[in-house]
Amino acid sequence: MNNYNTTAIIGAQWGDEGKGKIIDYLSARADVVVRAQGGNNAGHTVVADGKKYALHLIPSGVLRPGAVNIIGNGVVFDPAGFFGEIATLEADGVDCSNIYVSDRAHIVFPWHRELDRLSEKAAGAGGIGTTMRGIGPCYTDKAARTGLRVCDMGDIGLFREKIAAAVEEKNKIIENIYHAEPLRKAEIVEEYAGYAERLKPMIADAGVMVYDAVAAGKAVLFEGAQGVMLDLDLGTYPYVTSSHPGAGGFIVGAGIGPHMIGEIVGIVKAYTTRVGAGPMVTELLDADGDAIREAGHEYGTTTGRPRRCGWFDGVAVKHSVRANGITGIALMLLDVLGGFDEIKLCHAYETPGGGGTEHFPASLDFIGGCKPVYKTMKGWRSDISGISSYDALPGEARAYVEEVERICGAPVKMVSVGPGREQTIIREEVL
Ligand code: GDP
Ligand code: IMO
Ligand code: MG
Repeated sequence: MNNYNTTAIIGAQWGDEGKGKIIDYLSARADVVVRAQGGNNAGHTVVADGKKYALHLIPSGVLRPGAVNIIGNGVVFDPAGFFGEIATLEADGVDCSNIYVSDRAHIVFPWHRELDRLSEKAAGAGGIGTTMRGIGPCYTDKAARTGLRVCDMGDIGLFREKIAAAVEEKNKIIENIYHAEPLRKAEIVEEYAGYAERLKPMIADAGVMVYDAVAAGKAVLFEGAQGVMLDLDLGTYPYVTSSHPGAGGFIVGAGIGPHMIGEIVGIVKAYTTRVGAGPMVTELLDADGDAIREAGHEYGTTTGRPRRCGWFDGVAVKHSVRANGITGIALMLLDVLGGFDEIKLCHAYETPGGGGTEHFPASLDFIGGCKPVYKTMKGWRSDISGISSYDALPGEARAYVEEVERICGAPVKMVSVGPGREQTIIREEVL
């Protein structure tokens, strides 16, 4: 362990594990909160003083006065989404004056959203089920070295010219490949010139800000978006997002050295959910799955889609723990399982043709033939949402938590029993 006071929060499943809640909880003592990848495909819910906030691009530290919120270079930045989010937060009385955006972040444009929509439509049932926020096409331009970055807003005249050229280029694809309506160049140029003007006071060399804060021993939280199983390299490719939600994403996306990350907390739901297409070995297409969805209000924060639900997949979480050096787990939504007589935990997959594995396979065709191997545990059959100490949890609930630790190979340092800040049980401090 190093001497820096930093903690990274990553989703260890398929997103929506409750990262927003834990970031908000920990940000009470954070000086800086940093987003480093993804964009407004994220939907992080925070319930503060009984009020619900949905954050997409803005770090969840914004709800704590005094915390500095940084959008790092690895984020794909949608100015329309950003200013819309600020307007919603300000209408709720939230102070948004402490937000900075990296000059190296790539900008999401209307053609990214349009190409996301058109390619998903063209793929039909074979689509990824994206959030349609233009994330994949924006990262595609970044990797192709044709994207525009926030620093390009510095010279508005030149920025206008670059946008005009890009619209012409993208319209060729939109019209000739997808046979769709071209985008309107003049409108987009005006819209984005306006954003450039508004964004000026918030643009910063974010890497320097983060480095200085970490080096000065300030409490810095890195806020992951999505989850490891949606990671471009570590997840269920191609049913993933186009960034690195794993711990590695912070190094490149915030511009810091690996040794500067102290604790790496994996946020883990007590069961499994997934939105969009792709394999999910423990998915329940029955009354148990419906019961989890209703008890956990499992509908997307960003798109409102019902989430696919299933029992805890220990093979996936163990994969996340190993591939990211997770030093502790925050086990979320444990209260949701209070209605079951029996609860199942998957600790291995039965593989096609016999045999089994405890390691998450690469091939989707292979995963498609895998079946979950479950350990069945007795449920606690009670409402635990008001319990505030670990020892006061029913024995069956504690046994469940400790089985998760055993399967995944990392200690459960926090247990969450409800969406509120006070519904958080601490076993070991992480920041
Ligand atoms: P994120 O994307 O990882 O930040 O997670 P989301 O906000 O998309 O989804 C998590 C949902 O679970 C939100 O509606 C939270 O308010 C809610 N939530 C978080 N922790 C708990 C918990 O311990 N119990 C219950 N019942 N709900 C929780
Ligand atoms: P948070 O941060 C859950 C999923 C989409 C789709 C795939 C690719 O709230 O946990 P994209 O729009 O990124 O190209 O979609 O990734 N996805 C998420 N699922 N939570 C998220 O974010 C997600 N962000 C993207 O549903 O399957
Ligand atoms: Mg979410």
